[in-house]
Amino acid sequence: MSLLEVKSLSQAYGGSRILRDVSFTAEAGQVVVLLGRNGVGKSTLLRTLMGVHPALSGQVTLDGKSLDGLSPHLRAAAGIGYVPQGREIFPRLSVEENLRVGFATGRLRAIEPQIYELFPVLAEMRSRRGGDLSGGQQQQLAIARALCTQPKMLLLDEPTEGIQPSVIKDIGRVIRRLASEKGLCVLLVEQYYDFAAELADAYLVMERGEIVARGAGAQMQADGVRQMVSV
Ligand SMILES: Nc1ncnc2c1ncn2[C@@H]1O[C@H](COP(=O)(O)OP(=O)(O)OP(=O)(O)O)[C@@H](O)[C@H]1O
Ligand SMILES: [Mg+2]
Repeated sequence: MSLLEVKSLSQAYGGSRILRDVSFTAEAGQVVVLLGRNGVGKSTLLRTLMGVHPALSGQVTLDGKSLDGLSPHLRAAAGIGYVPQGREIFPRLSVEENLRVGFATGRLRAIEPQIYELFPVLAEMRSRRGGDLSGGQQQQLAIARALCTQPKMLLLDEPTEGIQPSVIKDIGRVIRRLASEKGLCVLLVEQYYDFAAELADAYLVMERGEIVARGAGAQMQADGVRQMVSV
């Protein structure tokens, strides 16, 4: 049994089908990257896994437990952490208050020291307002907030979008550590090929709502994934 099992997941907005029979599995301790050009349905897949939009059909299980029909907060409680595209932190709350939002799943009462160890910049800025942070710091805050729900699985939607290279490196190191040291399963949506290729244990390529290629991270170059997703 895999940590995440997705079977024939379909999704539509209005009458238009966005996801078509998406099936894949992901293991604990693994970074799975999902690549694809603009508008193919990557964010829709993450939102559907999180339950933000109920699926049209299909099954999702996490650690053997069915998530079908569950609301986002119950999926968070079941172990899914979600960092949406564009980060969506609370600009008027402090860094620490933003992190406490992650306590909503009810397991944590205090911010774990490891959060500040993973993201030292957040420790320095813990009383600053979220909105005063740079884009890269807000991305780190959004990931840290998701970790405060103590997830088994982390859904990251383009964490490098619009972020300076030095912070991208930091975020890459954190993702690697979360998978290798904490055994988290990370589903990483990316359009930045080099970043994705460096982190990938496995990859998925999406086109028009379907998974059209998949394989081991080490095979991405040989499989010509860069050409599949280049614009
Ligand atoms: N709330 C919505 N209502 C209707 N259509 C939507 C909605 N959100 C997305 N879409 C459409 O669904 C398709 C997939 O969008 P989605 O955001 O999942 O793509 P994406 O692969 O994440 O793209 P990007 O790389 O630009 O982030 C697009 O055609 C988009 O216009
Ligand atoms: Mg998207």
